[in-house]
Amino acid sequence: MVGPDKAPKKIDTSTPNHARVYDHFLGGKTNYEADRLAAARIAESAPDTPVLARELRQFLVRVVRTLSEAGIRQFIDIGTGIPTSPSVHEIARSVDPDARVAYVDNDPVVVVHADALLATDAGVAAVEGDLRKPEQILGDPAVRRLIDFDEPVGILCIAVFHLVADHEDPAGIVAAYRERMAPGSHLALVQFAADSDPEGIAAFNEIYAGSPVKVTFRERERIRDLFDGFELLPPGVVGIEEWRPERDHPRTRLKIAGGVGVKP
Ligand SMILES: C[S@@+](CC[C@H](N)C(=O)[O-])C[C@H]1O[C@@H](n2cnc3c(N)ncnc32)[C@H](O)[C@@H]1O
Repeated sequence: MVGPDKAPKKIDTSTPNHARVYDHFLGGKTNYEADRLAAARIAESAPDTPVLARELRQFLVRVVRTLSEAGIRQFIDIGTGIPTSPSVHEIARSVDPDARVAYVDNDPVVVVHADALLATDAGVAAVEGDLRKPEQILGDPAVRRLIDFDEPVGILCIAVFHLVADHEDPAGIVAAYRERMAPGSHLALVQFAADSDPEGIAAFNEIYAGSPVKVTFRERERIRDLFDGFELLPPGVVGIEEWRPERDHPRTRLKIAGGVGVKP
């Protein structure tokens, strides 16, 4: 576990942080007391959250394998989170050893860890960037070195769009990425769904009330709207446990929903 005295100066360890709370749910060690307290409060009101966090990683494995098998050789993983195995490049390289991945997150703690643990060869980069600023990410020198935008790319937005508020124009943000994606590119997007249990939603709202970034639970129809300009792969926008399941996945009361779309 990272000790507060070893923390880089600009990191606020006194308030819960989404990446580190999630890391705690996944059994990671890159989290602080405030994150663990928030995780405990969330788990009290929404006890299936740790299960959902693990299911999310399994969903990511299914998605990256599906895209790799469809011929995608380059990925941008936006809101990548603190590194967890298997990571995107490990999954993609099980299909093609030359697959390239740019990991992007706006949390400097995440980027430091991703840089140290994941960006260990020329085909992988860790970049600090904000999902809400597509031009910044798409123009980043490390992203441009790795990603050939004339070829299909897989853009992954896994459990990050609920951290974009409605007034920040989530559809416009997706459109900016879509315009740069070559035909045959894929977008994987999942986020907290509004049909989650009200207790869980209330717990998130309360815990992140003082945080600069709130959680926006969206109706499935609104999540589907974010795929405007993409053709949704079957089974469409569904709960992650229903997206091409490989076993009997647990049904959680807190829901994350979305899917994968291809740019025609
Ligand atoms: C719940 S984690 C998801 C991690 C990973 N995608 C996964 O599914 O395992 C959300 C991540 O998104 C990052 N994040 C939040 N807002 C962001 C933004 N505007 N731009 C980029 N990353 C963001 C957080 O720092 C955190 O690491």
